[in-house]
Amino acid sequence: MEKRNFETDAIRAQSERTPNREHSVPLYLTSSFVFEDAEQARALFADEIPGNIYTRFSNPNNTEFIEKMCLLEGTEDGIATASGMAAMYISMASLLKAGDHVLASRSVFGSTHQILNVIFPRFNISYSYADIADPNSWESKIQPNTKMIFVETPSNPALDIIDLEWLGKLAAKHKLILNVDNCFATPYLQNPAKWGAHLVTHSATKFIDGQGRVIGGAVLGKKELIKEVRFFARHTGPSMAPFNAWVLSKSLETLAVRMERHCQNALELANYLQTHSEILKVKYPFLPSHPQHELAKKQMKLGGGVVTFEINGGIERGRKFLNSLKMLSHSANLGDTRSIATHPASTTHSKLSEAERVAVGITSGLVRISVGLEKYADIQADVAQAIEASKA
Ligand SMILES: Cc1ncc(COP(=O)(O)O)c(C=O)c1O
Repeated sequence: MEKRNFETDAIRAQSERTPNREHSVPLYLTSSFVFEDAEQARALFADEIPGNIYTRFSNPNNTEFIEKMCLLEGTEDGIATASGMAAMYISMASLLKAGDHVLASRSVFGSTHQILNVIFPRFNISYSYADIADPNSWESKIQPNTKMIFVETPSNPALDIIDLEWLGKLAAKHKLILNVDNCFATPYLQNPAKWGAHLVTHSATKFIDGQGRVIGGAVLGKKELIKEVRFFARHTGPSMAPFNAWVLSKSLETLAVRMERHCQNALELANYLQTHSEILKVKYPFLPSHPQHELAKKQMKLGGGVVTFEINGGIERGRKFLNSLKMLSHSANLGDTRSIATHPASTTHSKLSEAERVAVGITSGLVRISVGLEKYADIQADVAQAIEASKA
């Protein structure tokens, strides 16, 4: 597809029109596709000609979604997956083998920790964690059998930022595959491939859907790597449902305008919380108080839609705060039009030990707010009344 501006690509990159002359792309709910003749069937299976065979392998809705994602991320190829975790898993499992080692940032999503800590060791794939705050330690953790570096930036929920330019150079120097989970930033705010990431992975469930409706993911990157990922996916089956691909491709049409408003509301909320006497600590990449604020400004267009804070009074006060919210949803998702408050220590990251949580900045009183698209004044009013109500 032809490259235009981000907003235009997100709207205009579309499957070819059918003879029905539809304006909006149709939904291809079909498990398989019909062969014109025996020769075409043979040639399709032999990969001699492009085309759809079976929806586990490809489908026009998935293709449209993924081609658009590639345009927006600046990647050569990609594959749509049933969930973000399917994307994380196959982006590693398809390229690693027994005896390989992964160097990962300690600040990664809870289920990604489970893949590295529990699932991969069963297949003799080992890992080491490195700390974002200590970039000098990363190189010494690279082993002769290290094959991949896996990171999230900003991280969930600590909102730590990794220097992608530095990491891209480190990966190139050691000939490692750099795999970046770009879920929190979305392609609108940050393009890891620009800094040398070979793979860019997504949970499309979050800001890409943006309306809390479907689960999905994507693995994007270099053609030769995606070839391996595609082979693995075709034969193990974590493909995205065409309905979800149709929804997500439509969602991308509004990603830019939604992200602008998410980021504007989030920055306003972060500024408000920062001056509140009952709030001990606020973290948001575009607040000057964020330890990597300059880096965030260098590699991100805006600060993202998530703010975290610590309320005075520890876990009990945090629980009271969540129970006092009247409009904000108390849910485990993020990136929705509706603002959502979450307590990571008891939900998304509960499978980690206390020590592991503290190491990645998830204190027991930490509250994460995914700032939605409601009128900002209403978001602040609800947060303010819940801070007040939780005092008692
Ligand atoms: C950074 C990050 N990566 C991956 C995932 C997993 O995505 P999914 O829930 O779509 O499987 C999440 C979910 O919260 C996430 O926040």
